Amino acid sequence: MTAPTRPVRPGRALRPRTAADYHRAARERLPENVWDFVQGGAGEERTLRANTEAFDRTTLRPRVLTGTATCDTSVEVLGGTWAAPFAVAPMAYHGLCHPEGERATVAAAGALGLPMVVSCMAGVAVGELRALTPAPLWFQLYVFRDRHVTRELVRRAEAAGCDALVVTVDTPRLGRRHRDAANDFRVPPTLRPVNLPEAAGTADPGGHARAAFRPGLDWSVVAELRRTTRLPLVVKGVLTGEDTELAARHGADAVIVSNHGGRQLDGAPAALDVLPEAVAAAAGRLPVLMDGGVRRGRDVATALALGGAGVLVGRPVLEALAVGGEHGVRDLLGLLCAEFEDTLLLSGQPRAADLDVSLLTPPARPP
Ligand code: FNR
Repeated sequence: MTAPTRPVRPGRALRPRTAADYHRAARERLPENVWDFVQGGAGEERTLRANTEAFDRTTLRPRVLTGTATCDTSVEVLGGTWAAPFAVAPMAYHGLCHPEGERATVAAAGALGLPMVVSCMAGVAVGELRALTPAPLWFQLYVFRDRHVTRELVRRAEAAGCDALVVTVDTPRLGRRHRDAANDFRVPPTLRPVNLPEAAGTADPGGHARAAFRPGLDWSVVAELRRTTRLPLVVKGVLTGEDTELAARHGADAVIVSNHGGRQLDGAPAALDVLPEAVAAAAGRLPVLMDGGVRRGRDVATALALGGAGVLVGRPVLEALAVGGEHGVRDLLGLLCAEFEDTLLLSGQPRAADLDVSLLTPPARPP
């Protein structure tokens, strides 16, 4: 038997060093039904898995002896500066993972100069969140059957001083999330979507979406929102070049390529795989962001190399929140920033804003 040459300090291995460590630690912390709500996807969760697998398939083409001693990780998106090219994705009810909820998340992101997109299903008033961060704050909304509700959400985001509106267009109803159905998942009564003017029936997310979200949306809703607000308008949930083109034509200021983290249409492609198609259709007219499956700094670099202006990070943030509240989220986002900076420096890239497809190994062609 070989004795270890150095004693292993107790507790040493427990400090999370990656998003994957937070993922494992969160599983220990969260009640089973909340874990399933956060992790779950629609159907057989093929799209959910595809999002991370698409990043796993990519490899980088580092350049050496480039003289790169420091690098600039920041980017500009819609007139705002992001300290690194990622933001917190809009996610309902951070309070499921930690009592401080969105307050903790936004303070952690803000401390690092990273933006957050506040879900309209957040448990904390958007005005209160605005006061907790100097970084860009965007507000996400669904389009409601009741036009007054949608207009009121826009008004509240404007009054709070948000920097952009994100309209999510992939959710005419919730996808078939078998884990939540099996658990009969309900949001606890202590957690209310306080930004909604009318919060009746929100405990059952699927039932609420069916009752309250406007079905049969078409592109006129983007034009309608465009007329309602002067805020930059971002369309979240496009997966094709055609829809990127339509978003540009209807006055969107940016799009987010997203399959909602695999929670809506199972069988939809990995967001990363369709990013180049959307970037080509945008043709430089509007920035294209993406989300789904970003778990490491190099994933951020990969999305930027494929033309993304920035990415959003979803589940890892809720996992870090569950493990360590504000401190946990700050640590996770700091790890992602450090990994991203390592990726730039180790591949000889001085500026995040200059990344292009030459960073990636081209897909192998059949002989
Ligand atoms: C979400 N997402 C989401 N999107 C949105 O537009 N409004 C919302 O309220 C929510 N709520 C929500 C809750 C939870 C628990 C999750 C996990 C996701 C989708 C989210 O913005 C984003 O598209 C995905 O989470 C990105 O994928 P990853 O990073 O989780 O793989």
